[in-house]
Amino acid sequence: MLKRIAAATLFAVGLASGNALAQDTVKIGLILPMTGPFASTGRQIDGGIKLWMQQNGTTVAGKKIEVILKDDAGNADTTRRVAQELLVNDKVQILAGFGLTPLALTVAPMATQAKVPMIVMAAATSAITEQSPYIVRPGFTLPQVTTPMADWASKNGIKKVVTLVSDYGPGIDAENAFKTRFPLRNPDFAPFLQRVRDASPDAVFVFVPSGVGAIFMKQFTERGLDKSGIKLIGTGDLTDDDILNDMGDVALGVITSFHYSAAHNSAANKAYVEAFKKLNGYRPNFFSLGGYDGMRIIYKALETTKGSTDGTALVDAMKGQQFESPRGPVTIDPATRDPIQNVYLRKVEKVNGELWNIEFETMTAVKDPTHKPQ
Ligand code: PHB
Repeated sequence: MLKRIAAATLFAVGLASGNALAQDTVKIGLILPMTGPFASTGRQIDGGIKLWMQQNGTTVAGKKIEVILKDDAGNADTTRRVAQELLVNDKVQILAGFGLTPLALTVAPMATQAKVPMIVMAAATSAITEQSPYIVRPGFTLPQVTTPMADWASKNGIKKVVTLVSDYGPGIDAENAFKTRFPLRNPDFAPFLQRVRDASPDAVFVFVPSGVGAIFMKQFTERGLDKSGIKLIGTGDLTDDDILNDMGDVALGVITSFHYSAAHNSAANKAYVEAFKKLNGYRPNFFSLGGYDGMRIIYKALETTKGSTDGTALVDAMKGQQFESPRGPVTIDPATRDPIQNVYLRKVEKVNGELWNIEFETMTAVKDPTHKPQ
């Protein structure tokens, strides 16, 4: 009898401390490609999160923030399995990360079912936020950054354009946005560089996912397209700051449109780039801001809910957030849960021996032009 009472007491104590711990900690399940061909996406986002936490601490509204990082190597089956484990075993209250569109799409129904906010820090196909009311995206969408490029091209004497895009969600989004905006007379969507060359357009518009730009540039040069007079334009994924320096002089003069350049000329960005390099040892790119500003919206939302991790309350507290990011001013559109932000036109230039995307024109407060009203 005595023994049983002791055991029961022990159990009760165990439960109480378990509860206290769960109540005091907010667990964020972070799923990123840390290995494989998209590892640069993972390390950029992880680097941004680390910097945010270094600068802003690890306690918000009295809660300890715990980030549980899992590598999915860019494989959707792994993403799904890991998300399930994080929700069921680790009982995370927030999911974050998602390096590619298919990885985000596969987890969206789980976020809805679990009523857990899902912060999409990288994947940029427009329709992603339409897949769950619990998705919030601090980064960007492809149509958002593509339309300014199409407008610039048509205003700057470019009449015939070939599009060359990676054949999945964000590539198709980018191509559609370009086609819709740019008055193409003879659309030719040749998938290979030789066909681009044969078409001898004024310009080729390219979307390739971050990390792939260096290989593209190499092949572009090998086929002599850099000397063909065909102008290379695209979204900033092509001249990604993480790999731009490795591309060499072939990248000089490439014009892209994008929401972030590490060369963005503001005091906030200079401080960001310096602190990021000091902490992580490499130059930040746009994906780093998905992590950095993603943590910002989580922290701000937890402050608003006074530490409550109710998923619906957290998402409500993210809608409409406005903040000054290293990229410029950002608003989380309460209707779409996507960012409204400046999009810049940029040209690759060499400054102090390094290649940078130098901004030369700003479109302010650009929204994704393709979202259906929700
Ligand atoms: C995506 O899969 O949504 C994606 C990946 C890399 C990018 C942009 C979008 O640079």
